Amino acid sequence: MKAKDLLYRWKRYAFFAFQYFFLEKPRGLDFTMRDLDIPEEQKKFIHGYSKTNERHLRNIFDRLPFMDNLSLLDVGCGKGVVLKEAARYPFDKIAGIDINFRLIERARINFKRLHLEERIWCEERNALEFEDYGKYNVFFFFNPFGREIMETVIDKILASTYSRQKRVYLIYHNPIFKDVIEKKEVFLLHHQLYDSLKQYETYIYITRTGW
Ligand SMILES: C[S@@+](CC[C@H](N)C(=O)[O-])C[C@H]1O[C@@H](n2cnc3c(N)ncnc32)[C@H](O)[C@@H]1O
Repeated sequence: MKAKDLLYRWKRYAFFAFQYFFLEKPRGLDFTMRDLDIPEEQKKFIHGYSKTNERHLRNIFDRLPFMDNLSLLDVGCGKGVVLKEAARYPFDKIAGIDINFRLIERARINFKRLHLEERIWCEERNALEFEDYGKYNVFFFFNPFGREIMETVIDKILASTYSRQKRVYLIYHNPIFKDVIEKKEVFLLHHQLYDSLKQYETYIYITRTGW
């Protein structure tokens, strides 16, 4: 690893440590990067937990057209930081799924502490087996899994929304498999944001009308 990358990584950990010990722990919260163990049997096929920066999330949500009646699903919601920030905005529904039950347990504690448990739904679910994509029209991904799973999940989302002829937004943070989305040709790149703190990009895609 290059010295520059190492320095960047340490800066990021230092930032999260500060956030955890001074801003979250005293309030009984934990959204930070501290990884909870991934269950042994899941290690092969899931990516671990790390969180999206709150300021970056607000930059993203500020760009969404809320007059379109938006309902958000964070696919791989971890400890729930995306959902917590989404609760500041007028989404009709806010929901998250994660394959790791320990993260979901932690997310629920976080929401309870913030009195958001009525506003946000989250459950331990594998995105591959989730059957309710059709209830949502905004999907958030922060690099939750590998290419194969991403392909299947995007297909499931398209299948579930096709009959509704509704616009769908895909928000893809750190989009390492963006070709999976772009090759579908039903998605247009709507915005591209850059997270200067984390050096990550976020792409916002929207389905073409009449696809
Ligand atoms: C990088 S974290 C993102 C957390 C959160 N979305 C955020 O942006 O702060 C990715 C999450 O995806 C979850 N994940 C991985 N594979 C999954 C799957 N097949 N189904 C549901 N969640 C999954 C992981 O447990 C992890 O919490």
